[in-house]
Amino acid sequence: MVDELFSVAGKVALVTGGTSGIGRMIAQGFVDRGVKTYIAARDLDRAEATAAELCASGGQCFGLAADLGDAEGPAALIAALAARESRLDILVNNAGANNRGPIEGVSAEAWDGVMDVNLRGPFLLVQQALPLLRAAASAETHASVINLGSIGGLHIPNWEAYPYGASKAAIHHLTRALAKRLGVDQIRVNAIAPGPFHSRLTDTTSEAVKKSVQTYIPVNRAGEAEDVQGVCVFLASRAGAYVNGSTIALDGGYIAAL
Ligand SMILES: NC(=O)c1ccc[n+]([C@@H]2O[C@H](COP(=O)([O-])OP(=O)(O)OC[C@H]3O[C@@H](n4cnc5c(N)ncnc54)[C@H](OP(=O)(O)O)[C@@H]3O)[C@@H](O)[C@H]2O)c1
Repeated sequence: MVDELFSVAGKVALVTGGTSGIGRMIAQGFVDRGVKTYIAARDLDRAEATAAELCASGGQCFGLAADLGDAEGPAALIAALAARESRLDILVNNAGANNRGPIEGVSAEAWDGVMDVNLRGPFLLVQQALPLLRAAASAETHASVINLGSIGGLHIPNWEAYPYGASKAAIHHLTRALAKRLGVDQIRVNAIAPGPFHSRLTDTTSEAVKKSVQTYIPVNRAGEAEDVQGVCVFLASRAGAYVNGSTIALDGGYIAAL
């Protein structure tokens, strides 16, 4: 019974930014549970090499390339996917960019660069993927869109990261707007707001991050692969079918304890 409730086997997923960090963790979790998983990043060789690693112990994983900061990138990515698949059960909008620094140094280019990848890209991907998502959704089963937000979009951190925080607060809001519109089509849209997970963006082995984790995170550790895999499997399976428009803080209690 439990297996059926949380089963994602046989579904088709696209995980953007699946070559690194949290996206790679999510993709591995799906591949290991029988999801035919596509990962996308800018470099095709890297995407294909990572896909091969992710299914080295079994399962199906394929690499695709797209620059999701480019206005045409999302449409090109979905066209490449549509050439191979007639439906998409799970879309994980994970690819993300950061830009930290004092207010005086934020250029228009830096602002746009973060917003384009973190906000416009996910919106255009959902828009372009609608026919594939609708093909996967029915009264019996749902399609699931999972947007990666951040605790940086739920509070103001002790460092300056203006475009990043604004983009993440906006993706939480966009998640609710899409959930309201697409729920009737059995396409659920939710967001995950992670705390620190080891990745290219966050070095959880650095002394600064370790100290911050010990000081502020009630469970006293950084996030691990199983933490984000568990939430994604929940949201993509029957178990999560009544969750729509939520932003789940995946942060060991950090935001709750503020
Ligand atoms: N790690 C954390 O502590 C943390 C905390 C809160 C939220 N998050 C969020 O979680 C998500 C994943 O972050 P991460 O820390 O795992 O980052 P990461 O290790 O830097 O990975 C980012 C991924 O996104 C891809 N990507 C970046 N820019 C892209 C573009 N223009 N087009 C296509 N793909 C692009 C990268 O591939 P290429 O560079 O090869 O294209 C890579 O696969 C992000 O949305 C981030 O904001 C992370």
